[in-house]
Amino acid sequence: MTISLYQKDLVSVDSLSVGEIDLVFEEAKEMEKLVKEKGGDDRLSGKILAALFFEPSTRTFSSFITAMQRLGGGIIPMNGMKNTSIDKGESFEHTVKVFSNYADILVIRHPEFGMPRIASEYAGVPVINAGDGIGEHPTQALLDVYTITDHFKSSKDLVVTLVGDLKNGRTVHSLSKLIAKMGIVGKFNFVSPPVLTMPVDIKKSIVAQKAQIIETESMESAILGSDVIYMTRVQKERFEDQKEYDRLKSYYQLTQQMLSKTKKDALVMHPLPIAAGEINHQVDNDPRSVYLTKQLRNGLSVRMALLHLILNK
Ligand code: NCD
Repeated sequence: MTISLYQKDLVSVDSLSVGEIDLVFEEAKEMEKLVKEKGGDDRLSGKILAALFFEPSTRTFSSFITAMQRLGGGIIPMNGMKNTSIDKGESFEHTVKVFSNYADILVIRHPEFGMPRIASEYAGVPVINAGDGIGEHPTQALLDVYTITDHFKSSKDLVVTLVGDLKNGRTVHSLSKLIAKMGIVGKFNFVSPPVLTMPVDIKKSIVAQKAQIIETESMESAILGSDVIYMTRVQKERFEDQKEYDRLKSYYQLTQQMLSKTKKDALVMHPLPIAAGEINHQVDNDPRSVYLTKQLRNGLSVRMALLHLILNK
C-alpha cells in the first residue's frame, strides 16, 4: 500500500503513522531545498488555503500563509475572527461550511478543545488543527520532531526534558506522543510545578509506546543529562485565577549558567512565545538554542510539506 496524506485531515498526532511522518519529513527536506534554491514554485497554483484563527498567533499563522504563497497557492487569511459574522452570532459550524466552499483546505486554531475535529465533520475539505485549547498542536509537534531527528541523525535513546506548563500546553501534548511514536526516546523528564503536571491519558499513551517517564519539579537536575531541553510558557489564558498564574509564570527560568553544565550537543527548544522569562535572553545566542533559528525555518518547511502532500496527489 502506498503511503499518502492526500485529502487527509490532521487533527491529532494520533492519526499519523510512522510511515506518514517519515513522508512529511522527506518532503520537508525537499521544501527546504526548494526555498533555498528558488524561493518556491507554483505547484499549488489554483489551490486556496483558509486560515481561521480564533486565537492569537504569530508563527503558526504566518508560516502557513508563507508556506502556501511559496508554493503558488492563494490564501484567505483570518488572523482573528472579529470582523466576521461570528460577531453577529453565526455558528462555528456554518462558518466552517462557508469557508470550505471557497477554499481547498482549512487551517483552524480555536480556544476550545475539539473544535478542529468538529470542523472536520462539517467541512468538505481537509482540516489542519493549528492548536485547539489545551488539546493538541500537531504541526508544531511535527516541526519539533523534524528538528530533533535532523540534529541527532541516528539516535534512538534520547533523553527529552519538557519543562513548564505540561497540563495546559498543547504543544507538549502532541510532541510527547509523537516522540514516543517515533521510538527515538529512551527517557522523558516531565518537569513542572505539582499543579501543572502532564495529563494522565497522555502519560498512558506514552508508556504504551515503551518510553520511560520521570516526573519531577526540579529542572536543574533534570537538564543535566538531557539531549533535548524543551521549555514552555505557562499558559496564562487557561487560568481562571490570574493570581495563580502570577505565582506560576516564572517558576522556571533557564539561564546560561544552568546551561553551562549540560550536554554540549543538546538542543534548547521552545515553541514560542517566551512570555515570562522562562528562557533568559542570554541563552538566545547559545549555539544549542534553536527556537529563534532552525525551529522557525523548519516550521515553514514542514508546513509546506504538509500542504503539498494533502493538496496534491
Ligand atoms: C504555541 C501555541 O499556540 O500553543 N505557540 C505556537 O504555536 N508556537 C505555544 C504557546 O502559545 O505557548
